[in-house]
Amino acid sequence: MIPVKTPEELDVQRENGRLLAAVVAKVVAAIRPGENTAVLDALAESLIRDGGAEPSFKGYQGYPAAVCTSLNEEVVHGIPSASRRLRDGDLLSIDVGLLRGGLHVDMAVTVPVGEVSESARHLMESTEKSLWCAIRVATIGNRVSDISHAIGSFVEGEGLFVVKEYVGHGIGRALHEDPQIPNNGPPGCGPRLAAGMVLAIEPMVKVDDEPTRVLDDQWTVVTGTGGLAAHFEHTIALTEEGVDVLTQGGA
Ligand code: MF3
Ligand code: CO
Repeated sequence: MIPVKTPEELDVQRENGRLLAAVVAKVVAAIRPGENTAVLDALAESLIRDGGAEPSFKGYQGYPAAVCTSLNEEVVHGIPSASRRLRDGDLLSIDVGLLRGGLHVDMAVTVPVGEVSESARHLMESTEKSLWCAIRVATIGNRVSDISHAIGSFVEGEGLFVVKEYVGHGIGRALHEDPQIPNNGPPGCGPRLAAGMVLAIEPMVKVDDEPTRVLDDQWTVVTGTGGLAAHFEHTIALTEEGVDVLTQGGA
């Protein structure tokens, strides 16, 4: 069953989304060659707590940090580490969730560290564009797989490949709620989108079409060939007035 939020719940998630966007913006501003990923995690956690919220990921199924920092061939769920130093040319995905007032929001961005290759830039930009293609079709009356199809067809047209093993999701009182939102598939399938639904849409895109693997740390997901991956995510609310992208703005 897909939870539908009350107007009061939507207000809380809207406020939370603004806080999360501000947290992510500050973490992104701290990204530079020589910095390590544990510093970014600590910064995110303190900003989240300063905002009166809690990190959604810390302790989730035993996950040890507030954010996921996934570098280069790491797709998602990279664990921050003081021994992981950013280098010029790295592609870094930052994924953060927070909980306040009983409601979660979730967001991810991929950013260049210093100067990155042309192919890295194309991957990053295409992944972000695919998220906006998805948001454009996330309208009341459309179906869940219209979102999937918008992402998958755009990514394919760019000569890139979506991750099929991990999906977007509804989000609210739980970090992961129904529906699951795959990043590819035929249009016109699955539940109809309705006002009050809050969705975390998260295209994960790679330069190869091999299955991903999980490293021995039991978390870090990497591409099959070691090729680059990128990840963007927004939490959006569907309202009668249109789509509300909650995880932007930032105060
Ligand atoms: N943003 C991711 C998701 O939506 C990460 C959650 S996994 C965690 O699934 F363990 F890191 F929390
Ligand atoms: Co998510």
